[in-house]
Amino acid sequence: MDNLPKTDYMYICVYKIQNKCNIMEIKTIGVLTSGGDAPGMNACIRAVTRAAIYQHWKVYGIYRGWEGLINDEVRELTTESVSNTIQRGGTILKTARSEEFRKPEGRKKAHETLVKYGIDALIVIGGNGSLSGALELAKEYDFPVIGLPGTIDNDLYGTDSTIGYDTALNTIVQCVDKIRDTATSHDRIFFVEVMGRDAGFLTQNSAIAAGAEAAIIPEDCTDIDQLATFIGRGIRKSKNSSIVLVSEKDGGAMHYADRVRKEYPQYDVRVSILGHLQRGGTPTAYDRILSSRLGVAAIEALNEGQRNIMVGIKNDQIVYVPIARAIKWDKPIDKELIHVLGVLSI
Ligand code: F6P
Repeated sequence: MDNLPKTDYMYICVYKIQNKCNIMEIKTIGVLTSGGDAPGMNACIRAVTRAAIYQHWKVYGIYRGWEGLINDEVRELTTESVSNTIQRGGTILKTARSEEFRKPEGRKKAHETLVKYGIDALIVIGGNGSLSGALELAKEYDFPVIGLPGTIDNDLYGTDSTIGYDTALNTIVQCVDKIRDTATSHDRIFFVEVMGRDAGFLTQNSAIAAGAEAAIIPEDCTDIDQLATFIGRGIRKSKNSSIVLVSEKDGGAMHYADRVRKEYPQYDVRVSILGHLQRGGTPTAYDRILSSRLGVAAIEALNEGQRNIMVGIKNDQIVYVPIARAIKWDKPIDKELIHVLGVLSI
């Protein structure tokens, strides 16, 4: 912990002192995955399970996220339950987006299940919505939760990377490499739509990695028209084909393709929406290692009395971020990434 950046380190110290009075002995934990699945979630479930058993704690897997907690879909996990899972995409615990958990009655039922199984603390692997739910439950019932950032979107504040982001990035780059073959052969402009909800991390970084001509991301949507900028740079001056990666928000690739067809009819335009294939597949080594480190760190954080934090990674060091901050604070895109793509796409 001494290697942590000072601000994070100071924060952790303060947070631990604030929570010291609540330190309790943990004997049993629950783990669930919630929201969109992400490659590496299984590696994380495995790490949480084995690290907890290493502490001689009992582990319950909760199936289908908050829905499963409400509907009592709970099963004990052993070291064997998580064998042969580190390499698998998706989540063996299944996942869901729960409307019922948004309501106090839903959370009441969820809490009753926790009490029924004697669960002392809950590990929640998921994105923004899932960690918001975890915080609600924690506050309403004074229940210890630890969040782990599991989403391909990489949009949680306080962590450099989220579980699944690296795998999705590599998947997108592989797809764009293939699209490039046909775009070049036909001298076409391709608008390729990338996931990320409100965040442009996947779009911006896959554009750099795939050598795309431009990226259109929500974070760069000021009053400057990104499409006009791209066209204005002269897309066809030196190249006969172009690849533009577009974040899914606000009409995505279709919106920009329609505009080009209307405003610049001289260009031959196609759209490719990558869709849910971005969420599947075997996790990269980076995601497996990240998931394993975060899973072990979550158990160790609980053991030292932490609660209501998200465990993340900053400058390759484990950090604790209050969940409230991880979900509410904006995670900015480094302007340098926008500059790099601009320079390299001439
Ligand atoms: O949050 C992960 C994510 O894949 C987003 O990138 C995307 O906007 C959303 O989930 C899609 O959700 P669903 O699978 O419910 O359609």
